[in-house]
Amino acid sequence: MIAPILRTLAGLRDQTAIWRQAGETIGVVPTMGALHQGHLSLARAARAQCDRVIITIFVNPMQFNDPDDLKNYPRTEQEDARKLESIGVDLIYVPDPDQIYPEGFATTVSVSGLTDMLCGESRPGHFDGVATVVPKLFLQTSADYAFFGEKDYQQLQIVRRMAADLDIPIEVIGCPTIREEDGLAMSSRNLLLSDRSRVYAPVLAEVMDTLRNQLRAGAAMPDVLPEAQARIMAAGFNKIDYLELRAGDDLRLLDRAQPDARLFAAAWLAGVRLIDNIAV
Ligand code: PAF
Repeated sequence: MIAPILRTLAGLRDQTAIWRQAGETIGVVPTMGALHQGHLSLARAARAQCDRVIITIFVNPMQFNDPDDLKNYPRTEQEDARKLESIGVDLIYVPDPDQIYPEGFATTVSVSGLTDMLCGESRPGHFDGVATVVPKLFLQTSADYAFFGEKDYQQLQIVRRMAADLDIPIEVIGCPTIREEDGLAMSSRNLLLSDRSRVYAPVLAEVMDTLRNQLRAGAAMPDVLPEAQARIMAAGFNKIDYLELRAGDDLRLLDRAQPDARLFAAAWLAGVRLIDNIAV
């Protein structure tokens, strides 16, 4: 059965009040739609852990720093609802924009430190948009558990920090990145790749895999980075925003592998920005 779609906060609260009264736990999977297997794996994790599962779909204008990116972001609500059918989620919350940003809305949540680097540097304002909408979705759904993909690892760490700092009583759970057979990390943005670009897109993950092996064997990042960058550019990528080794907890820059080190990359392929990260 296709789960009911609710578009108002009042409707959502009527439903969650009933679940809460019955002592049921609620899991939320916040998304911007264009659902792929990565999102579905989050929905399954929520289904396995919680009595009730809410998927939110909201293309959050506040986290787009480029108006064209917002305009072109894929919107596939009916398809999304069908994809969720077999998982048996309880409710799909697709808030009308004024349910998130009512007239006069004037509050921004900003997490310092973790947002200064990586995507924070190349997408100014992006993480303020995320850190503002996510607590709203947490509070609106009154969820006990929230599920996020490690694909957006920096986002996951920022959301954890924000929820802890604001004392929101929710457990944030990170789930592994789901990949296509050729290694490309699943992303809603992959839908924007041309057939030709799609062929070269997995090179980013391939290069990161090679880098990981070199780092594990004791190489220092500055020694192996130029060749990795050259391979990415040779595959037709136009620009590398970053390719860096960082600590998994506070994301500080590293030169060499250590327990908890991760590789992070963002690069542009024919107008589409792809990101990925892997544990080293
Ligand atoms: O990862 C996303 O899709 C978005 O950043 C999120 C967490 C739904 C907030 O808009």
